[in-house]
Amino acid sequence: MVLRPLHVVDHPLLARQIAVLRSVATGREQFRAALAEAAGALAYEALRDVPVAEVTVRTPLEETTGAALAHPVMVVAVLRAGLGMVDGFLRLVPDAAVGHLGMRRNEETLQPEDYYESLPAGVEASTVFVVDPMLATGGSAVAALTRMRRAGARDLRLVCLVAAPEGVAAVHAAFPDVPITAGALDRGLDARGFIRPGLGDAGDRIFGTE
Ligand code: PRP
Repeated sequence: MVLRPLHVVDHPLLARQIAVLRSVATGREQFRAALAEAAGALAYEALRDVPVAEVTVRTPLEETTGAALAHPVMVVAVLRAGLGMVDGFLRLVPDAAVGHLGMRRNEETLQPEDYYESLPAGVEASTVFVVDPMLATGGSAVAALTRMRRAGARDLRLVCLVAAPEGVAAVHAAFPDVPITAGALDRGLDARGFIRPGLGDAGDRIFGTE
């Protein structure tokens, strides 16, 4: 199966977690747990079309064939909020390598500013999933994908929890070949560049910096 350029995952278990994440009544502990659950569901869908290799397996009765992932998986968290999605991914792909890109959005210009980069070896050969809960203007995602392309990533994908149409359009314009997996496509951005209805600032809600 080839994933569509934008795949909005439609599953009751994910929808339930997104409702928890949207609620202003959800505290930090529950927010973190719901984000990890949601990230696991997104990972399951985002990995649906990764290349597989045939392997030989010996059952207790005979030899048969099975599947293994053909390429290593790398999860790249866009700091800070992307950290909240890493554990969910690792529940499904425990041997994945994990990279970090430090990026903060300047709330006046809405432009992303880089402040950190740590990438494991093997970017070129990996299936790379850039993870960030929020896709708002798309500035951070485009910058993160640009950094990963410069680092040599060939098979590159973006996974976010809540996306605004503006952000999806920006990523599609800059990276038409990068599939986006999202948990929800929201109405749009407000004047401050916040996703509406959204869930507020995911990084602040995870780390208590509201
Ligand atoms: C938020 C969010 C994305 C970015 C989305 O991060 O986690 O990275 O903004 O906005 P954009 O699509 O308009 O670029 P923020 O810069 O607030 O940093 P944080 O994760 O440290 O809170």
